[in-house]
Formats: sequence, C-alpha cells, structure tokens
Amino acid sequence: MRIVVVGQGAREHAFARNLSAHHEVIVTPGNAGMRADVEVSSLEAEALRPDLVVIGPEAPLVDGLADRLLASGINVLGPGAAGAQLEGSKAFLKQLCAEAKVPTAAFGVATSLGEGLELFDRFGPPYVIKTDGLAAGKGVLVTSDRAEAEEDLAAKLAGLSFGEAGTRVVIEEGMQGRELSVFALCNGRDFVLLPSARDYKRLGDGDRGPNTGGMGSISPVEDVSAAVLDEVGSSMIAPTLERLTALGIEYRGILYAGVMLTDSGPKLVEYNVRFGDPEAEVVLPRITGGLAEALMAAALGEQIPSLRVSDQSAITVVLAAAGYPENPERGATITGIEAARSLEGVFVFGAGVASRGGQPPDRQPPDRQGSDGHGSDRQSPVRDGELVTNGGRVLAVTGLGATLAEARSRAYRGVDLIDFDGLQYRRDIGS
Ligand code: AMP
Ligand code: GLY
Repeated sequence: MRIVVVGQGAREHAFARNLSAHHEVIVTPGNAGMRADVEVSSLEAEALRPDLVVIGPEAPLVDGLADRLLASGINVLGPGAAGAQLEGSKAFLKQLCAEAKVPTAAFGVATSLGEGLELFDRFGPPYVIKTDGLAAGKGVLVTSDRAEAEEDLAAKLAGLSFGEAGTRVVIEEGMQGRELSVFALCNGRDFVLLPSARDYKRLGDGDRGPNTGGMGSISPVEDVSAAVLDEVGSSMIAPTLERLTALGIEYRGILYAGVMLTDSGPKLVEYNVRFGDPEAEVVLPRITGGLAEALMAAALGEQIPSLRVSDQSAITVVLAAAGYPENPERGATITGIEAARSLEGVFVFGAGVASRGGQPPDRQPPDRQGSDGHGSDRQSPVRDGELVTNGGRVLAVTGLGATLAEARSRAYRGVDLIDFDGLQYRRDIGS
C-alpha cells in the first residue's frame, strides 16, 4: 500500500515510522527532523497518488480536507468537516453530549461578560473557561482565583487572547480526578479501542505552570483497569457514534476522548477528532502489527481487524523551545539527535524542526526539489547539527522498555544527549 500521512509533527512521524515497516509511506509536508527516518514531500496528498490518506492534525479536518479527498475518490482516514465539529466547536460538542447522554461537566455558553459572570456564580470554583473554537490545546483556563477567571473571560471575549476562536466561550463546572486519553478507531458505526495513554498537559514538573499541547505521555496507564476502558467505550464512544449517525454524520477516523476519572465515574473532558500528540508517540510504537490494515478498514467503513499490541511500556518526553507555550523562540541549533536515536529502545520524533538556512519542506522552491519518478519529491535527510528549532514543541523522545521504569530511563538517556538553547522539558514524566 502507498500511504500518505498529512501533517508535520511528531504524531505524524510516529504514524509514518510504524506504517513504513510494511508499506510505502510519504508524509506531507512533514518536517526536517523526520527526514532521517521517513520520506517527506511538499506535494499535496492527492498528487502523491495514495491508496490511503491518514490526516494527522485537527485543522485540516475541521477545514474539510477529508471531504475533498473523498469527493475525488481517495480513501481517507479522518472525519469530514461535519464530524470534526466535535473538536472544532466546544458548543457543538457539549450539545451532542447532552443529546447522547455522555457523562460530562455541566456547562453554559457565553458571548458577553454578563452571561459569563452568571455562569461563574452558578458553577462556583474552580472556574473553567474554554474558547469555543480551536486554540491548539491552549484555550483553556482552570483556576480557583475569581479575579483571574474574570480577567481571562474578558480577554477571550474581546478577541484579545485567541482572536475569533475565543469570542464565544464555554464555561464549565470544575471536575476533579486523574486524566486518561482513550483512542477509538471508528468505521462509522463500530469502533475498536487502541491502547490507553496519559498525557502531561502542564508545562512544569508536578503539574505546575500553564496548559500546553502536552509535555509528555505514558502508555499503558497502569492504574486504569480494562473495566474502566470498557465503560468509556460504552458510555461515551458508542452513544456518540450513534448520535452522529442520527445527524447523518458517518465518522471514520480516530476519536480521542479526554476523560477525567472522577469519584462518580469517568466523565468526558473533551473530544478530539484525531490522535493525541504526544500520546501517538507512546501508543503507536506499542502497536507491532496490523495498523495499516485497521486504518484502511476503518476508512472504508468495513469491520476493523484486530491489532497486535506489545506488552512493552512507552514514555515520551517532549523537548520544547524557550518561551513555549506563549512565545516560542525559533532558530536555535539542535545537537545530539543522531546519538539519541542510536540508543536501544529510543525513538526521536521531529516536530518543530527545520533545516538551518533552508526553508521548511513545504516552501522549497521547485528547482530545489528532486524527483524520484513516482510523483513524489523526496527530500534528502538532514544531518545532525544542521537542524534548528522551528516551533514550540521541538522533538518528542520516546523510550520503549519491558517496564515503565526501563522505558523511562531509556527516554531520559536519550533526552540527556540532545541540546539546544533554551531547551525546556519535564523531568517527572512517568514517575
Ligand atoms: P481541554 O482542552 O478541554 O482538554 O482542556 C485542557 C485541560 O483543562 C484538561 O486536560 C483538563 O486538565 C482541564 N479541564 C478541562 N475541562 C475541565 C473541567 N470541566 N474541570 C476540570 N478541569 C478541566
Ligand atoms: N495531547 C493533547 C492533544 O493531543 O490534544
């Protein structure tokens, strides 16, 4: 099979690395940090004549890329724009949860200060304020400080903090408990659950500091039983697919439930319409067979064959740029990636990485693009020391081992070899 993965982060690198064991894989646009491992191209997915397209990030899904590919007869894993509203609009999500009776926090929608303050009074602390639209995982404030909550509300409504995405906000009742990421591969009617993972969302050790896109992850989550996962499947995923079907939406893709394990059972925090990042970097290395076949079956609306999952554990540590999440610095030289990659049980996935002096692959001028004769424009690997930071989350270092402790020590051994100016990472992933 010829599979095209759309996206440019560590998640797409992890997809491509797994799938390329048995299939031809091209990532578009990809990034310079994955070129040592997988083929990247600046061409559009369609031009690469794929048997299957896997769309990684939410933005192109919300924008209807899956609909456009399907309309031109291409098999695609990822929901159309209608299904992607589950992530693209928190208000749509909460409405659907109410209709499908998916357990989740009580909520209200506010477009004015008055409405917002009334909701603060109704739910009490901790105050949870979310932008309605997409904000790359950073549009949520959870605080018990009323003054801070009011300030955040005012800034979001005025379009100051997240532009248009923030001018309508969802305010929720605060929930408490440990969090869990559950991934369902859906074929429109049925689903299979992938291995579970936990994401570390706060910037600093001990879950302090601002929310980020995710600073690390582990899989499996040892404190969560199979019964809890089954409950997430039956109380959340199944009724959600049923409700979507009733709305005329056939959801073929990965549905990611962010779940809080509260005293009164698992409750949905949010849905994402794609794989988690950095969860993909721990879950996918543990899938040792059948991934391409399962993704294709889901894309075609057919029964999903079972996956082979290793009983090894995995841990990912994200290496972020100085200034992340508010204002990441770009252009710092990265060293040590090759040395880290050569360690046993260590993978280094590229995210916010570019080649020094070079433009990102999607902006290479045509005269610098070679051709391999099958419609791709394969980019040659970039050597260590020629890579620079080019985004907030720069690299994801994954350790795989017989136990969580072994995976952890392998991941951090890899991290120790990599350096760039202003490097920030958490030291407590999986501990
Ligand atoms: P979200 O982008 O909706 O996943 O929210 C980001 C993070 O904010 C979640 O992972 C939770 O840690 C926290 N959060 C979101 N909603 C709530 C809530 N209703 N109660 C408590 N924490 C929440
Ligand atoms: N790890 C959080 C996310 O992918 O949204």
